Amino acid sequence: MKKNMIENFKKHFNRTDGQVYYSPGRVNLIGEHIDYNGGFVFPCALSYGTYGIAAMRDDRYVRVFSNPFSKEAYIFDLDHLVKDQTHAWADYIKGSIKAILDKGYKIEFGIDLYIEGTLPVNAGLSSSSSLELLIIYIFDQLNNLKLNRPEMAILGKNVENNFIGVNSGIMDQFIIATAKKNHAILLNTDTLDYQQIPLYLKEYSLLIVNSNKQRGLADSKYNERYQECQDSLSILKPKFGIKNLCSLTDEQLELSKDLLSETVYRRTRHVQTEQMRTILSSKALQDGHIEAFAKLMTASHMSLKNDYEVTGIELDTLVDALLDSGAVGARMTGAGFGGCVVAIVKTDELEKITKLTQEIYTNKIGYEPSFYSVLPEDGVSII
Ligand code: GLA
Repeated sequence: MKKNMIENFKKHFNRTDGQVYYSPGRVNLIGEHIDYNGGFVFPCALSYGTYGIAAMRDDRYVRVFSNPFSKEAYIFDLDHLVKDQTHAWADYIKGSIKAILDKGYKIEFGIDLYIEGTLPVNAGLSSSSSLELLIIYIFDQLNNLKLNRPEMAILGKNVENNFIGVNSGIMDQFIIATAKKNHAILLNTDTLDYQQIPLYLKEYSLLIVNSNKQRGLADSKYNERYQECQDSLSILKPKFGIKNLCSLTDEQLELSKDLLSETVYRRTRHVQTEQMRTILSSKALQDGHIEAFAKLMTASHMSLKNDYEVTGIELDTLVDALLDSGAVGARMTGAGFGGCVVAIVKTDELEKITKLTQEIYTNKIGYEPSFYSVLPEDGVSII
C-alpha cells in the first residue's frame, strides 16, 4: 500500500517528498449508543482504514486527490472552509482543518494530499472518523502542533458536532486516536479515562459482516435518538440528581417508568442496561470468559433491536443467521440502521459459519453480505 501511495503522489503532484499515514476504522464490541450518555464503550481499531500521503505547500491551498472519491483534484484554501454538499467527503477534510483553527492553532501552509481507503463507506466502521483523524494527525505532524491523542479525538468530535451536524459522541475518534495493536479500549466517555485491555480471544476470532444495506437517513435517525435521551435526562436529572443517563440505578430505572413516555422509557432502559452489559463484558473478557462476553454482545443486540430500535431487518437477519450458523455471540456495531455486525466465532468454524450465514442472509434479503476477519490495530500513525 505504501509503495502504491508514493507512486500515486508522484503521478498526481509530481512530488516525491510525501509522508505516508494510516488512520484505522473501528469496530465497537459493546457499549452502543451510550457514548453521548456518559457511558462506557469498548471499541478496537481495525486493519481496514484510510491511507494518506501528504506534503506541505508554500501557499494556503489544499489540493486533494482521492481514490475512490474523485478523479479530479479538489482544491480549497485554508481561509474559506465552508461546506459543499456536492463533495461530501471533502467536507470532513475541511471540517477537520477548521476544528484545529477554531481551537486557536496556527496553520500557515496548505498541503498536497492523496487519499485511499480500504474501509467500506457508510458501513458503520467509521470511515468518516478515520478520515477526520487522518487529517488532524497530518496537520499536527506537519505543523508541530503537539496535540496529544485525546485532544485529537476531541477535535474530531467537534467536526461531527459543529461542521457536519451530527450529535455523535466521542467513541469513534477516541479509539482511532488512542488504539493499541491487539487491544480494545474500555473508555469512560464521561471522564475520558480509558484502559487498554488485551483482546485475547483464545480459540475464538472476531468476524465482521457487512449487511451491505447502506445507512440511509442514519444521521437524522441518530439525532432523533440523541434528542430522546436528552428528553429523558431533562426529566430524570431533577428527579434523581443523576449526572447522565448511564448513572441511573436499577431502582431509578424502575421508577422512571411512570415519568417517561413508553418510547422514551425504552430508550432509557437500553442506555442503562447497556452500561451494565459493557462493564460486565470487559470483566468477562479480562477473566478469559469469552463465551460469557459473546452472550452479552447478543443481549446488547436484542436491546438495540427492541428498546432502542436502530437495527432493521438486514441487521437482525444477519445476527440470527450468524447465531444459527454457530457464532457464540453477535450484534450490530456502530450507529445501526444498516451497516455491520460483529460476531465471535470459533476460529476453526470460521469457514463453515461464513458459508452458512451467507446462504441464509442472501436467501432472505436478496443480496449478499461481505465478510471481514479482523485483528485489532494501532491508532493513527505514520507508516
Ligand atoms: C456512531 C457515533 C458514535 C456512537 C455510535 C453508536 O458511530 O459516531 O459516537 O454514538 O454511533 O454507539
